Amino acid sequence: MRNMIWSGRFLSTVVLLLVFWSCEEPSPVPPPQAKLELIPQPTQLESGAGFFFLAPAVFLTYSDGLSTQGQLLQNFLQELGIQQKSNAKRVIELAYGFDKQDAESYHLKITPDSVRLTANAAQGISRGIATLQQLLLLNKYQGNYFLPQLKLFDRPRFRHRGLLLDCARHFFEVEVVKKYIDLLAFYKMNTLHWHLTEDQGWRIAIDRYPELTGVGAYRTELNGSSYGDFYSKADIREVVAYATERNIKVIPEIELPGHCQAAIAAYPHLSCTGDTVSVANDWGVFKEIYCAGNDSVFTFLEEVLTEVMELFPSQQIHIGGDEAPKVRWQHCSKCQRRMAENGLKDEVELQSYFIRRMQTFLEANGRELIGWDEILEGGLAEGAIVLSWRGMEGGIEAVKHGHQAIMSPTSHAYFDYALDVIDVEKVYSFEPVPKGLTAKEASLILGGECNLWSERVPDENTLDSKVFPRLLAMAEVLWTDSSQKDFLTFNQRLQAHYPVLDFYGVNYGEESVPMSHEIILE
Ligand code: ACM
Ligand code: ZN
Repeated sequence: MRNMIWSGRFLSTVVLLLVFWSCEEPSPVPPPQAKLELIPQPTQLESGAGFFFLAPAVFLTYSDGLSTQGQLLQNFLQELGIQQKSNAKRVIELAYGFDKQDAESYHLKITPDSVRLTANAAQGISRGIATLQQLLLLNKYQGNYFLPQLKLFDRPRFRHRGLLLDCARHFFEVEVVKKYIDLLAFYKMNTLHWHLTEDQGWRIAIDRYPELTGVGAYRTELNGSSYGDFYSKADIREVVAYATERNIKVIPEIELPGHCQAAIAAYPHLSCTGDTVSVANDWGVFKEIYCAGNDSVFTFLEEVLTEVMELFPSQQIHIGGDEAPKVRWQHCSKCQRRMAENGLKDEVELQSYFIRRMQTFLEANGRELIGWDEILEGGLAEGAIVLSWRGMEGGIEAVKHGHQAIMSPTSHAYFDYALDVIDVEKVYSFEPVPKGLTAKEASLILGGECNLWSERVPDENTLDSKVFPRLLAMAEVLWTDSSQKDFLTFNQRLQAHYPVLDFYGVNYGEESVPMSHEIILE
């Protein structure tokens, strides 16, 4: 009798506990199959049959030193309605591993009970978080989020994977720049090349030269309206901090000696003539460039770059160097004197003098110089990095002379170009390492960049429609080993990403020129 009562009580307690336990941890119906359409394609992926499910809560734990990444993942989970609870049964763990891989590689193991993401460095954890985010968004089923069982190892092919955002021809708000940083991180790109100064607008506040933004940030459009804006130092710090948390490097570009009419409009003494000019209000290449014979120009640029370096911790600073017509220098007595004094045979060598002087200054401050491939002309000092845009030739010449190079040719990487010239398949066919290089030369190619020049990109919607979906193709080109590239499977995976891009509020464009439908009536 006693025993029966006891066992009855025992049983009901067990039943109650089971009921309680099942209320606490309901088992939602898993998706019929795992969706593994990751972009870029990971290096090694072994999938299993089970799922780790996240509702209503998971326990997220991370090693010391990974709290930024842990917090970002927690915020993302919260956005999906998933809570983090320290007594939740299922665990997501972010930890340092020690397998001597490079800083951006990572391992990910997902079982029905646990998720373990390991890397040597926070960079790798950030890249692994992007994989988790993609898997979550891809594997939403009946309102619940799942992670498919798998084992994954991933490592980038190139260490420089960038997007140039031209915020000078048209200005994009801090929130838009942050959205792009999120999207770069989500597709495992690692560099925002931030184009901040132009003929048509100077967009970065410099305390010592307030007219750069006071005058140089505004242009009078052809219809008489005023267009302009700029980033305050607080804005820039906010963007850089946001990017740094996501392990995205921000490289500022301060154009010299050309593409600087806005600066000359603010401070006319910087030009050869000293004449007053206005901030440019049309597109093209302009003859107003910094005077190379005037020492106060170098003082100005060094003071500007000093403030730029205070804001940007990036190892590299981009100084432009492209499209600098030499007509002003040819007719300027100061520039001609500089050439004579330094034994420079022409204005091309004067440009080389200009770049070398800026490089010496940057290197004295512990930074490296990046410039467009024109910086090769007239000779380039050791240590400068060439961004090859007029085809691949500049990059090839650079590595043959022992310079590092980044490939960004107009043939594949210019996302301002129309789709009939550069569609998704064309971007996907991009090979940043040309044939015929030695292994040493090939190793000097750091990676690639895509460009978004904004002359004809007046707003965020147009920006999105130019960058997406082409950016996904570039992301795979720069991350995934070329032996694993396959356009058909990429294109299938791409289809799964449109809802994901919707999640980020991206107004993506077409993959290629849409077929026209013509109905011919007899
Ligand atoms: C460039 O497109 N002018 C670098
Ligand atoms: Zn001059």
